[in-house]
Amino acid sequence: MSEKLSFYIKRIKEGRLQEMARQTRWIYGYAKRHWLAMILYTSLGMVSTVTSLLSSMVSKNLVDIITGHQTGALITTFCMMIGLGIGTTLLGQATGYATSWISMRVDAEIKADVYEKILVTDWESLTNYHTGDLLTRWGSDASNVSNGVLNFIPNAIIYFFRFVSAFVVVVYYDASFAVFAFLGMPVSMLLSKTLLKRMVNNNKRSAAMSAKMSGFNQESFANIQTIKAFDLIKHYAARLRELQKEAISMRLEFQRMSVWTSLILSTVSLLVSYSAYGWGIYRVWSGAITYGTMTMFLSLSGTLTGALHNITSLVPTAISLTTSAGRLMDIVEMPREDYSGEDEVDEFMQRNAASGISLTLRNISYSYHTGTEVFRGASMEAHPHEIIGLVGPSGEGKTTMMRILLSLAVPGDGEAEFSGESGGRVMLSPATRRLIAYVPQGNTMMSGTIADNMRNVCPEATDEEIIAVLKLACAWDFVAKLPDGINSEIKERGGGFSEGQAQRLSIARALLRRSPILLLDEATSALDVATERRVLRSIMHDDYPRTCIVTTHRPTVLNLCSRVYAIREKKCEILASEEVERMIMDF
Ligand SMILES: Nc1ncnc2c1ncn2[C@@H]1O[C@H](COP(=O)(O)OP(=O)(O)OP(=O)(O)O)[C@@H](O)[C@H]1O
Ligand SMILES: [Mg+2]
Repeated sequence: MSEKLSFYIKRIKEGRLQEMARQTRWIYGYAKRHWLAMILYTSLGMVSTVTSLLSSMVSKNLVDIITGHQTGALITTFCMMIGLGIGTTLLGQATGYATSWISMRVDAEIKADVYEKILVTDWESLTNYHTGDLLTRWGSDASNVSNGVLNFIPNAIIYFFRFVSAFVVVVYYDASFAVFAFLGMPVSMLLSKTLLKRMVNNNKRSAAMSAKMSGFNQESFANIQTIKAFDLIKHYAARLRELQKEAISMRLEFQRMSVWTSLILSTVSLLVSYSAYGWGIYRVWSGAITYGTMTMFLSLSGTLTGALHNITSLVPTAISLTTSAGRLMDIVEMPREDYSGEDEVDEFMQRNAASGISLTLRNISYSYHTGTEVFRGASMEAHPHEIIGLVGPSGEGKTTMMRILLSLAVPGDGEAEFSGESGGRVMLSPATRRLIAYVPQGNTMMSGTIADNMRNVCPEATDEEIIAVLKLACAWDFVAKLPDGINSEIKERGGGFSEGQAQRLSIARALLRRSPILLLDEATSALDVATERRVLRSIMHDDYPRTCIVTTHRPTVLNLCSRVYAIREKKCEILASEEVERMIMDF
């Protein structure tokens, strides 16, 4: 038995407690920036405790004056009581304001910080989380932490102070009443223990439920077209109702628990105050105390029971807070990308701005975290003024190669470097992304006007420059015909434009960045063959020394390419010109 006990104690010490200490430090890393406000809050709480104690004492005097046990100025005492009452109310409001002030600031800071950290987190690690889960963590968990940040240290100080000061007053007037201070303690402690277990469990379930709900909503709103097309409206509406039913039954279960807890606590506090009442009447009857002292004890018994309960419930609150902090730390502590080479890359890019940049991969190997091996010993190269074609069946690794070049996927083995025609070289890293303009597979325009989307990647671009890249991407043909031209609105995810038009806008955006390397991942797949060739030709006839890599399923553009690599057996093989010809003929 004792072995078992020490085993558990050891586990608690090693595991959860240490974890909680780490999470608490993390929370206080944010809170301590507002230490002055927290000290103010704690002081307000303490002053308000003193005011309410004084108020009870003055009320005692008032009763004693009225019942003739004490002489004193009735009007002055009455005015003092009213003054203290007003003071308590004002202090309550000030404390409430300080609470909101601190929580809002901590909330904004945590959210901004987590947001920024999500953006620099290793892409592949981040893909393990559903967006719904990320949103819940970013939203609810951060709010939970910021709302509870005062509950730990400042409130613990206030509650202890409240308990001790009320206790001292009680002992000062009649030590026998001190017993009532502890009467409610066993029940409070028992409740706190059961609450503790439930709290951890409920927190996890509640977070999982919100993640599921926000994921479901987000996905269905983003895919309304598919839902309608498959005639799934009824099915999705029913699924939402199922989810809501699940959420409601879970919340009601929590609510029932809270009703029971409140019932037990109210009963205990009633019992305590009735016993105090009985004992008070007896003491008044036996002449040991006055009526005033009795009324004061009655109000203080409530203060003591309340403070004691607050102290015992600090632990469940702490658990809830640290659980949320833990969920945020999961995201914040994922591997971070290293941007340390940015200055070197900038200098390298400037030096080679006029002559262009080459790219060389040697014996690259790459497997996704899931275990899917995509490359083993793959090599390829690309130079300025070249278009490099990358072909291969679906699922062979074309997009993965783009991700490697963008350093979103980090190769396990091999060398990858950029070398300048005017000298210098840099190794592939997240910092080398500034050398690259990328047009991904699928639609990636954002909401806003065409010009807004263009200026997203190049804020200082003039209208003329925007029109010039639209012309290069063969997008000016249709933009010029729009009533608002480049100031026409694009809806969410490129809405309002055809797939091929959105692709040309994406290409124009990439060109505006004037990066030495241009990656096009099936970026012309929705264009007709003639427009596709026109776009690629026009990009290459631009005098800017671009190195361009295109993946394609359509061999028709291959004869524009300087070199074509086929992804085969996890390698990149150069295709001989006869093989390319054959592919074009077979198409
Ligand atoms: N995020 C990911 N996590 C794990 N495996 C992935 C991930 N993305 C792609 N894969 C796997 O890697 C392989 C290569 O995928 P990739 O997207 O690079 O193919 P692709 O050649 O671009 O295909 P397509 O022509 O259909 O666009 C596939 O087997 C795919 O299942
Ligand atoms: Mg692909």
